Amino acid sequence: MNEREKFGSRLGFILVSAGCAVGLGNVWKFPYMCGQFGGAAFILLYLVFLAILGFPIMVCEFAVGRGSQKSCAESFKKLEPKGTRWHSYSYFCMAGNYLLMMFYTMVSGWLLYYCYRSAIGEFTNATLSTEQVGEKFSEMTASPSTMILWTVIAILLAFGICSRGLKKGVEKITKVMMVLLLLLIAVLAVHSLTLPGAAEGVKFYLVPDFKAMADHGIGNVVFGAMSQAFFTLSIGIGAMAIFGSYLDKKRSLTGEALNICLLDTFVALMAGLIIIPACFSFGIKPDAGPSLIFITLPNIFNQMAGGRIWGTLFFLFMSFAALSTVVAVFENILSFAMDLWNWSRKKAVIVNIFALIVLSIPCILGFNLLSGVTPLGEGSNIMDFEDFLVSNNLLPIGSVVYLMFCASKNGWGWNSFIKEANSGKGIGFPAKIKWYVTYILPLIVVVIYLKGYYDMFSAKGMMYLIPWLIAAVAFLAVVCYLMFSRKKNRN
Ligand code: TRP
Repeated sequence: MNEREKFGSRLGFILVSAGCAVGLGNVWKFPYMCGQFGGAAFILLYLVFLAILGFPIMVCEFAVGRGSQKSCAESFKKLEPKGTRWHSYSYFCMAGNYLLMMFYTMVSGWLLYYCYRSAIGEFTNATLSTEQVGEKFSEMTASPSTMILWTVIAILLAFGICSRGLKKGVEKITKVMMVLLLLLIAVLAVHSLTLPGAAEGVKFYLVPDFKAMADHGIGNVVFGAMSQAFFTLSIGIGAMAIFGSYLDKKRSLTGEALNICLLDTFVALMAGLIIIPACFSFGIKPDAGPSLIFITLPNIFNQMAGGRIWGTLFFLFMSFAALSTVVAVFENILSFAMDLWNWSRKKAVIVNIFALIVLSIPCILGFNLLSGVTPLGEGSNIMDFEDFLVSNNLLPIGSVVYLMFCASKNGWGWNSFIKEANSGKGIGFPAKIKWYVTYILPLIVVVIYLKGYYDMFSAKGMMYLIPWLIAAVAFLAVVCYLMFSRKKNRN
């Protein structure tokens, strides 16, 4: 077997992992959720979840990756006690990564397209009315060919980068993208904050409005904030574990995870700070939901002095965030094939280019030809469903699997986990909080998970609640079975 590839530098590792974490979750989902769910009140909740749930789980993922030196396709198998069945979770991990990319590549394509459209001045034209700018979004989603084209561009760009290898491709290019992203943030934030009337937006951002939050149903907002904390940190389906497997033992994992969480949170908060004050400055409410950056913002750029440049820079920033994530997840997807079947990188790239193009089609068609398919009730589409499966199901439950695997005697075990997490220089993981990781954390996640399900579907009618709730409980049961069963004849 070939020697496992390694990162060239510590900065490379941090920026690639942060590149995976920083993505649509930060620049698209976070700002619109924040705008919808009451600004600062939502942020507060989100920060709490990041600290008490997200961060320890990220350490678990890195530890499993570094301890096994494998991607999640084989990491459980390598570390689990003989006779246990944790390795079955690998299939969920792999499915989760593909499922995520089935809609993520499409939205990344939208961003690239919007970057292009802003650059050619399509949104900045004094004769355009607000409705006409909005129509540009519906025109795009009505056209399968446009969306397929830009999705394929995103897929080819990302696989092109991955095909050059871990160090020469993924690490080198992601480093550049992340540095440019941070520079763009600074420029865009300064500009946004100096717009007239921006202070109102900052206030919305900093002063909690619990009423707006209550209007959405506390259960929904709490479930949303928790799912978002998992999504933004990329935890639960082994997407971070892979970078642990490329890491040497020089630094403790806790310290590295902390850096990545901080960077990720910084980018999310800044993205909001770029978008929300701009909305207030132009007298537009930031509560449009998913279309916030695709309809509300282009309208703002249309009215803004120098809107063409600001719009292009803004979508360039968004595109870097999305692409660095796609590259990171593709790297994980490639490593499945390389770990499982010993494929060469080249072969894995070629096969997966085709696989992902085909897999992203349902989501694209869900906006036009298949818009009648509404798995989550009226008004939902295939993208919502894919996102729901990943963000609201695989991630929370997968996170519990990682926690239990690290804490339980039937799994890898607390001592092995602590030893791996703490080898190297830097902050150690507090070994004393075993009770918290073993009992409290999984309990919080499962309670919010089931309550979130209940709130989400009971509003849509019992017809939806019952089948999905049964599915959720069955899923939980399967996972518990995997975690605690052992084959009789141990060998
Ligand atoms: N964290 C990324 C974002 O914020 C999305 C992402 C990448 C992800 N890999 C993941 C989410 C794995 C969950 C699991 O956009």
